[in-house]
Amino acid sequence: MIAAEAVTHAIVPGRVVLRDVSFRIDEGEHVVLLGANGSGKSTLLRILAGLVFPTSGRAVFDGAPLERRTLRRDGFERRLRRQVGLSFQSPDAMLFNPTVFDEIAFGPRQLEEHPADLEPRVAHWAGRAGVDHLLERSPFSLSTGEKQRVCLAALLVLEPRLLLLDEPAASLDPRSTGWLVDLLQELEVTTLVSTHNLSMAPELGDRVLVLSEDHRLIHDGAIEPFLSDRERLLAANLVHTHRHRHGDREHRHYHTHDWS
Ligand SMILES: Nc1ncnc2c1ncn2[C@@H]1O[C@H](COP(=O)(O)OP(=O)(O)OP(=O)(O)O)[C@@H](O)[C@H]1O
Ligand SMILES: [Mg+2]
Repeated sequence: MIAAEAVTHAIVPGRVVLRDVSFRIDEGEHVVLLGANGSGKSTLLRILAGLVFPTSGRAVFDGAPLERRTLRRDGFERRLRRQVGLSFQSPDAMLFNPTVFDEIAFGPRQLEEHPADLEPRVAHWAGRAGVDHLLERSPFSLSTGEKQRVCLAALLVLEPRLLLLDEPAASLDPRSTGWLVDLLQELEVTTLVSTHNLSMAPELGDRVLVLSEDHRLIHDGAIEPFLSDRERLLAANLVHTHRHRHGDREHRHYHTHDWS
């Protein structure tokens, strides 16, 4: 369904943030994307959504390369935007409409010729996202967790085939995080989800892609064995040590990052 083929990306010449990254995700897969801060996760998701074009290599959706030229052809970009939903790491970057209703209705209004049944559709997806009581509110007045839910509803209303979610649980409390995991499992949608939350990762997918701090794909495979492989976790800087004091003795031991 979506693939990265030898994707290398330099933000400015010489400043490489992805190096020769290749993988393929098939329809129906649930894949987790891990990597330390700055390893290139958000950049990779933007490339897969056709928002950023890599310096070399390419992203391919349903066999069609996501290049400036091809996006302009025969309504391909419109199809892509309907079928591939990307949620940004910061919900504030996505919200700009006067009300939550307009925010969720924005995609259908922009991307569909004659959006039918808009009100019931918005109400339905607002309900699934748990924000149906907020429809008349300004998105800017919401808490960060509420904003993340609105962003998700705004993607789901288009019933995309592929969801690219950039740390969607970063501002969710444990109950909301459980709700998100359940929702993603219920939906028949292919997902690629970045997270720093290793305890949540196995619930978000059974396959993991791991970016190293030097911006290479260093693991692509089953998630459970990866998460119990301390050497690999250390190599990707996904675990850390810090000092503990027990009485007059001080020692270090490993901790996983768990920031959500
Ligand atoms: N527009 C930009 N201008 C300059 N540097 C950028 C830009 N966008 C990203 N970068 C750099 O590219 C690298 C990868 O950034 P990216 O946001 O993809 O990392 P990430 O893995 O998502 O990190 P995090 O876990 O902190 O979200 C970082 O060093 C970042 O500073
Ligand atoms: Mg990021």
